[in-house]
Amino acid sequence: MSTDPYHDSRGNKDVSVTNPKEESLIVAEPEGKAPTKPTPAKPKPAVANGDDAPFLVGRGMTGGYGRGADILHDCTIGVNKGEIAVIVGPNGAGKSTAMKAIFGMLNLHEGAVLIDNEDITGLSPQNRVAKGMAFVPQNHNIFTSLTVEENLEMGAFLRRDDISGTMEQVYQLFPILKDKRRQAAGELSGGQRQQVAVGRALMTQPKVLMLDEPTAGVSPIVMDELFDRIIEVARTGISILMVEQNARQALAIADKGYVLVQGRNRFTDTGEALLADPEVRKSFLGG
Ligand SMILES: Nc1ncnc2c1ncn2[C@@H]1O[C@H](COP(=O)(O)OP(=O)(O)OP(=O)(O)O)[C@@H](O)[C@H]1O
Ligand SMILES: [Mg+2]
Repeated sequence: MSTDPYHDSRGNKDVSVTNPKEESLIVAEPEGKAPTKPTPAKPKPAVANGDDAPFLVGRGMTGGYGRGADILHDCTIGVNKGEIAVIVGPNGAGKSTAMKAIFGMLNLHEGAVLIDNEDITGLSPQNRVAKGMAFVPQNHNIFTSLTVEENLEMGAFLRRDDISGTMEQVYQLFPILKDKRRQAAGELSGGQRQQVAVGRALMTQPKVLMLDEPTAGVSPIVMDELFDRIIEVARTGISILMVEQNARQALAIADKGYVLVQGRNRFTDTGEALLADPEVRKSFLGG
């Protein structure tokens, strides 16, 4: 199995333009701690051309929290335009840490993060949002006391343009949210809350949507439904980078899969190839 994450050249699916004006706005950080400002890491050479470079990539990332020990060790995660990349691995493997590193919430002392071939390693999370990134963290990803609609508005609170079209798109994607738009988000079911979190992230009109365990705590039916919606989002040209506990189901919809163990890349391949790999199956997919 190849360890080169970018060897395969599966083309984009249905890449239509979702953000023609390339507008991107700051996403609110509900309930979370203020992210620490990353110190610029020693940049690795930027890739020369866009053909084989993923649209978003954290390359050779090494780093941890504050002055603590490194959690990530030369970890590389990327996603191509309009594709779905999935990170799986045991609890504590560093999946969420890798997502936070890519979003600029961690000090990296090795490696680089690039979007569209631009080195953004030194940028704050807010400035990464301006570059087209949206991040739905594993926990505390909605404002429970606000209504569904207020949550969506918060997602777009710095947009100066008319957000009603984007909100309507979110409601088309998740019709239940329209029905419940005046209800406090905290009163919703787990699956509906995750819809709010994803919807809120989409309000920034991102180019890349990063989801940390979007199906945590939901039933298999709701999981399937959410995955269908995520595929739908990817088909509009938005790249999806997500962490999933439901490894088998997630790899089944993944163009690219990453198995992380102890902060390192253990296996990297297409979702299909990982699902077919006996060692991956035995160790990470329950046989
Ligand atoms: N804020 C933090 N400060 C210090 N260490 C942390 C912090 N968050 C996570 N860690 C440590 O980093 C390591 C990786 O944790 P991380 O949350 O990235 O794992 P994960 O793969 O997302 O696990 P899970 O499947 O349980 O979500 C763990 O050893 C954890 O204790
Ligand atoms: Mg996690």
